[in-house]
Amino acid sequence: MKWIISLAFAVLMCKFLGAQEPAKQEAKTNRFVPGEVWLDTSGKSIQAHGGSIIVRDKTYYWYGEDRAIRNQTNVSCYSSTDLYTWKHEGVVFAREALPTDVRDRSFIERPKVIFNSRTGKYVLWMHLEQQGYHFARAGVALSDRPAGPFTFLHHMRPVQFDAGYPDNDPDRQKEFGGTYRDMNLFVDDDGKAYAFYASEGNWTMYVVRLNDEYTGPEMPMVQDKTWARVLVRRMREAPAPFKYGSRYYLITSGCTGWTPNAADYAVADKILGPWESKGNPCTGPEAELTFRSQSTCALPVPGKPGRFIFMADRWMPRRLSDSRYIWLPLTIGPNDAVTIPWLDQWDLGYFDKH
Ligand code: GAL
Repeated sequence: MKWIISLAFAVLMCKFLGAQEPAKQEAKTNRFVPGEVWLDTSGKSIQAHGGSIIVRDKTYYWYGEDRAIRNQTNVSCYSSTDLYTWKHEGVVFAREALPTDVRDRSFIERPKVIFNSRTGKYVLWMHLEQQGYHFARAGVALSDRPAGPFTFLHHMRPVQFDAGYPDNDPDRQKEFGGTYRDMNLFVDDDGKAYAFYASEGNWTMYVVRLNDEYTGPEMPMVQDKTWARVLVRRMREAPAPFKYGSRYYLITSGCTGWTPNAADYAVADKILGPWESKGNPCTGPEAELTFRSQSTCALPVPGKPGRFIFMADRWMPRRLSDSRYIWLPLTIGPNDAVTIPWLDQWDLGYFDKH
């Protein structure tokens, strides 16, 4: 009897403490703490891995992989007006919204959203994948609102290029075109949009200008005019492109799956290249492992030219939903020098001094 009472008491205590915990951590935050659990305004851990941020009408929208159910990735969206406190707007594109030919076998990685001011549409691109990572296609979906829902349009491999693929290529690139895996989108000052993605079985990065609707490659496709192979045979992925002045920058990681490695940044005068690699922008402890994370995006800080928030993922392969966010300040100094220092915690006031 005694032990039943003790057990009941323990269960009650757990429930009580469990219920208290989110409320404690939920308190509005005004700083970034890289690597810590980051809760949304309802007290749940933010699920926006491999993501990116757009700003519309003074509101930031953060899109990314919702890994609450490990291999059934959905795309979640969060909104914020200060970049510290995020409200979950919901799942804006669910796996169930994929067409029936791919729905059951596929999962979504590294979703990115851009706004098309010509069509008024929010355009979502994703890396659509299946077990074994040989499906390697781009998926595109559209919405009239930033917080979705997005409607699936089509999936494809944007570029057909003969890179000397073998007949027994498990990625079937001769037949379907170069693989489309880690990806990002970039809208230039002239309104032209580009997809950056790891292709040719991750050997070579591609930059592809999109059509006016941002729903596919610009046609007709002409190599080095509308698309280009960049960082050729360098085996880079996790592209995070950005621009400062008239120069283009591209942070990438090496290809070691969920395991972290050293970042590199490249610089170019023209978005289709040539791109010149400049080395690792990270400084401080574990800089050689990108602070145990992998790039996903570089967000321009409003009103601070040449200042960005570097966004990366510290993947937890055994429990992807518990992967952490590494947000750090990124500055561009003389001679295109990009620096990302490690900071245990920081806020946007950093950019008043650096
Ligand atoms: C990484 C990639 C991630 C995910 C992972 C799977 O290289 O950046 O997005 O695809 O591999 O192992």
